[in-house]
Amino acid sequence: MTKSDRFLLAGVMGWPVMHSRSPMIHNYWLKEHGLAGTYVPLAIQPDGLKAALRSLHPLGFSGVNVTIPHKQEAMKIVDEVDAAAKRIGAISCVTVRPDGSLAGTNNDAYGFIRNLRQEQPDWRADAGPVAVIGAGGGSRAVCYGLMQEGVKEVRLVNRTPGRAKVIAEEFGGPIKALPWESRNDALDGVAMVVNTTSQGMVGQAPLDIRLDKLPKSALAADIIYIPLETPFLAAARANGNRTVNGLGMLLHQGPLAWKLWFGVEPKVTPELRALVERSLA
Ligand code: ATR
Repeated sequence: MTKSDRFLLAGVMGWPVMHSRSPMIHNYWLKEHGLAGTYVPLAIQPDGLKAALRSLHPLGFSGVNVTIPHKQEAMKIVDEVDAAAKRIGAISCVTVRPDGSLAGTNNDAYGFIRNLRQEQPDWRADAGPVAVIGAGGGSRAVCYGLMQEGVKEVRLVNRTPGRAKVIAEEFGGPIKALPWESRNDALDGVAMVVNTTSQGMVGQAPLDIRLDKLPKSALAADIIYIPLETPFLAAARANGNRTVNGLGMLLHQGPLAWKLWFGVEPKVTPELRALVERSLA
């Protein structure tokens, strides 16, 4: 990329948004690459989302990430959505094109899988069944990523069974919806279990699940990163399981967004991870 005479602008639209570590991550990269620019938290209320997205071009933004609660609504507002995002049913990243049109994509699935591969290099999609707890937007991205990787069996359990059934019907293939009551038994023989519910997030109750059927060899992953170690991950660690927290899923989306916005791919280094982890300690 040639050094721009423009002040580069990007950000994250959420409500609330001040907890997000995305500004810390992206501003670290801007500095590291010697680029003049900034990445800002944009506190956008749901009824202001459309106007906010439409003002990105006149303000000179290269793009934004979108987070809770905007991921599904933003998909309806942007001008074009790629196939993966359509399948997931939400977008996590918006790119402003030179003509002012907005392109939406979803980097959540990529971030989840890329992080898994970096944190657990011997992870294999064919190692066995995967249990996914939860059936919201995060779950859809995780299920999509697991399917793309070739996981043969995904046991999907959700408090509201209808939402899990919808994902199983839409995605088909390896996704099997199971009743919430069977969540403890669903861990029997799995190679991995992933929490995609909001349970265990700061201010929320822990995920209500027992790990006695979870094989010791299984990997336990959470997509939550505040706190870094949820009660679910702490229990899995105490049980002897390897764990992967949700921070890496966020970190590994950054390079994809940068490629779209600025034409360069920054690196997720141990230094950057440590910096963000310190801020969460
Ligand atoms: P996101 O887009 O971040 O995934 P979401 O769509 O609101 O957020 O989904 C949140 C997930 O957490 C859902 O699977 C939700 O279960 P329901 O579909 O039954 O609402 C799950 N969840 C939230 N509170 C829960 C609780 N107390 N017990 C179990 N699951 C819960």
